[in-house]
Amino acid sequence: MMRVLVAGGAGFIGSHTVVKLVEAGHEPIIVDNFSNSKPVVIDRLEALTGSHLTWYNADLTNREITEAIFTQEQPDAVIHFAGLKAVGESVEKPLWYYETNMNTTFNLLHGMATAETRHIVFSSSATVYGNNPIPFQEDMEAVNSLSPYGYSKVAIERVLTDTAKVADIQVGLLRYFNPVGAHPSGTIGEDPLGIPNNLMPAIASVATGRREKLYVFGTDYPTPDGTCLRDYIHVQDLAAGHVAALDYLAAHDTKVRAWNFGTGQGTSVLELIHAFEKASGLTLPIEYAPRRDGDRDAFWADASRAKIELGWTAEKTIDEMCADTWRFQQANPEGYPDGDPISRPAQL
Ligand code: NAD
Ligand code: WQD
Repeated sequence: MMRVLVAGGAGFIGSHTVVKLVEAGHEPIIVDNFSNSKPVVIDRLEALTGSHLTWYNADLTNREITEAIFTQEQPDAVIHFAGLKAVGESVEKPLWYYETNMNTTFNLLHGMATAETRHIVFSSSATVYGNNPIPFQEDMEAVNSLSPYGYSKVAIERVLTDTAKVADIQVGLLRYFNPVGAHPSGTIGEDPLGIPNNLMPAIASVATGRREKLYVFGTDYPTPDGTCLRDYIHVQDLAAGHVAALDYLAAHDTKVRAWNFGTGQGTSVLELIHAFEKASGLTLPIEYAPRRDGDRDAFWADASRAKIELGWTAEKTIDEMCADTWRFQQANPEGYPDGDPISRPAQL
């Protein structure tokens, strides 16, 4: 059993990972400032796990508060989801992105030193591979500097790697491809604030009538149907991968290791839309639009390293990703509600 501080644990991927941690016998400690999530998620997680969860409403860019939480909780491990993630917004507000994503990382590392926490796994991204040839493999150079968001992931990987050379810590760099889906209960899922940028949230907002139509960005790519190919991964599989990575670090001497979390398969924009239409029984209004700046025509993971080393593979299909997203959307057509009572008070 490990006590795992889950930084950003109320967010999309963090919340699903909290459930998997409890199921695997670990004890999560959620720290989130709810800048891109809602406190009601804590209630939903307590209902799903049937357990009382320790949680902090705290900003991890504040070093003092972060260190106080580590002193209090003495975690064995950290999962670091806490940061900002909208690629386009990062171009508009680079300093805010660098400040938030770097400072949460610095403070978590200081906190780990305070509590002698040994393990950290970090939410990196396929975006670090930039223009490398596909499929992306972990030993390719992680160099993408196309957006401040992408570059913050490259920089954080470097900070963690350099720190591990001198500190008694072990680091997992988890490079996610395109996470979608929701918990099969329909009680937790992806609920982005504002206008969604990513494809599945955009589909979901059209399906629930929050947006009028779906724009398909680019139809003349050199792919079978002319739309971009991506490696969509179910958030439940991704969440399970975090537990596998932590267990691996705890059982090995590895100092720093990167793992791709993808399925190894590309799915086109139109294929994903059609799969969602099948799952929901809806016909979505579509408008073909010009290419979106900065999009690559196709990328997917070489997922063999995680399979060999972690014994982890993504199992869920595109149809399951769509069905589970739709179930969450139907149960929460306006997203998570504001201001539900919190079943247990925050710490601090
Ligand atoms: P999310 O926004 O749902 O989750 C991030 C959580 O961190 C949110 O709950 C937010 O409130 C919290 N947070 C942000 N700043 C904070 C701060 N200063 N202090 C405390 N908490 C803070 O995003 P997600 O989709 O769950 O992504 C989690 C991580 O995975 C992010 O680092 C993201 O960059 C990375 N990632 C996401 C994707 C994706 O497509 N969703 C792909 C690759 C990598
Ligand atoms: C997928 C495809 C769009 C919206 C981004 C980040 C990446 C990672 C995952 C965090 C593209 C098309 C989209 C829409 C569309 N995140 N699309 N209409 O661009 O692969 O990756 O999210 O690390 O770093 O860059 O994902 O979901 O935005 O787009 O046609 O309304 O869907 O053009 O081809 P992407 P996405």
